Amino acid sequence: MMKYINKELTIENFRIKNLAKKFTTPIYCYSFNKLKENIQNFKNNFKSINPLICFSVKSNSNTKLLREISKFGLGADVVSAGELMKALLAGIKPNKIVFSGVGKTSKELNFAINKKILLINTESKSEILEIERIAKIKKKKINIGIRLNPNIDAKTLSQISTGKKENKFGVDEKKFLELVKYVKKSKNLDLKCLSVHIGSQILNDDPYGKMLDILDKVIKKSKHVFEYIDLGGGIGIDYNNNNQNLNLNKYSRNIEKFLKNNKSKIIFEPGRYIVGNIAVLISQITYIKEGHKKDFVILDAGMNDLIRPALYNSIHRIIPVKAKSKLSNKDYEFVGPICESTDKFLTVKKFQKLDEKDLIIICDVGAYGISLSSNYNMRPKPFEILIKKSKIKILSKRQKLLDLM
Ligand code: LLP
Repeated sequence: MMKYINKELTIENFRIKNLAKKFTTPIYCYSFNKLKENIQNFKNNFKSINPLICFSVKSNSNTKLLREISKFGLGADVVSAGELMKALLAGIKPNKIVFSGVGKTSKELNFAINKKILLINTESKSEILEIERIAKIKKKKINIGIRLNPNIDAKTLSQISTGKKENKFGVDEKKFLELVKYVKKSKNLDLKCLSVHIGSQILNDDPYGKMLDILDKVIKKSKHVFEYIDLGGGIGIDYNNNNQNLNLNKYSRNIEKFLKNNKSKIIFEPGRYIVGNIAVLISQITYIKEGHKKDFVILDAGMNDLIRPALYNSIHRIIPVKAKSKLSNKDYEFVGPICESTDKFLTVKKFQKLDEKDLIIICDVGAYGISLSSNYNMRPKPFEILIKKSKIKILSKRQKLLDLM
């Protein structure tokens, strides 16, 4: 996707310098080729299972990008009326949409029911009662799933782990079995699915293996045949660029084994795997300020544009746009202009010498980048562009300051 040509960094053969000049930084720049490659890899890895792949809209909810994703036949995993509306707007068919989340309001449930989506994945008894109440009024039978909390440590960042008993998500085994009994007796609810999602940015195979063993056990105890098993998302990507990847092949073989006892259709809800590495954030250095032990490289992108490093201490590699051979004599701390000490992206030793006005890119920002961005400090949201077949498509324009007034 990126390479240096005559010491100038290019993305899909476009010189980043020219993109920066044309659109002005910061810019989220996406690659269609990479998107296509990720979707094909995902499909190939799980070919033998033939799953329904529901893209997790929270990771990136740009309508034009969703439209590209829907053209590959993917459905959507949504968590709010807004995301559901976006998915429909992008042309995703209701029968490929699943709705998750612990706090869906009556209004949101009504909307989802009216749109006849594939499944509402419920996370509590109260929510099930609310859906049943709405379904009775509408004289309908609604397809639901129940989310199991399997009490598994996904061995990922604590802030994005969801499958442990202390997390708010899903219900434990005992509650799950009680709810199965309840729903099976209901005239207005059809129990179609068991859903689970143990966390995000998972790079270790063990948790998924354990999860499948637990599902197998719980399904046997429930004595119910689930038409769907929704395994959620969570597959991690290689942010550090050191070939640390989840063994998808092993995961797929484990699922095949699981399906020998359970004749269900598998649903996946990947977000990061599909879009994480398809985008970079292009930013210009405003100033370089000398510090005591390090120099601060002050960018024109801030934590309002990309909050992951500030929120989770997560690593996003930074690469210079013009390659120079000279090294800096101090460490660099890449920071944004926001009035918060956590507004920093990365501290690096032995970086090439940078100058004010140089351009850099921040890597792997396609997932939870723009979707977690904000207008904090009254900063407009950046441009988003997509490079597709040697053309540049504008995904969204930079907000104007006047739009914020
Ligand atoms: N399904 C459910 C029910 C989820 O809660 C999530 C993510 C996904 C699917 C998609 O997970 P993925 O395949 O993208 O890992 N903001 C954090 C990530 C939060 C994930 C929340 N749930 C980050 O930037 O790392």
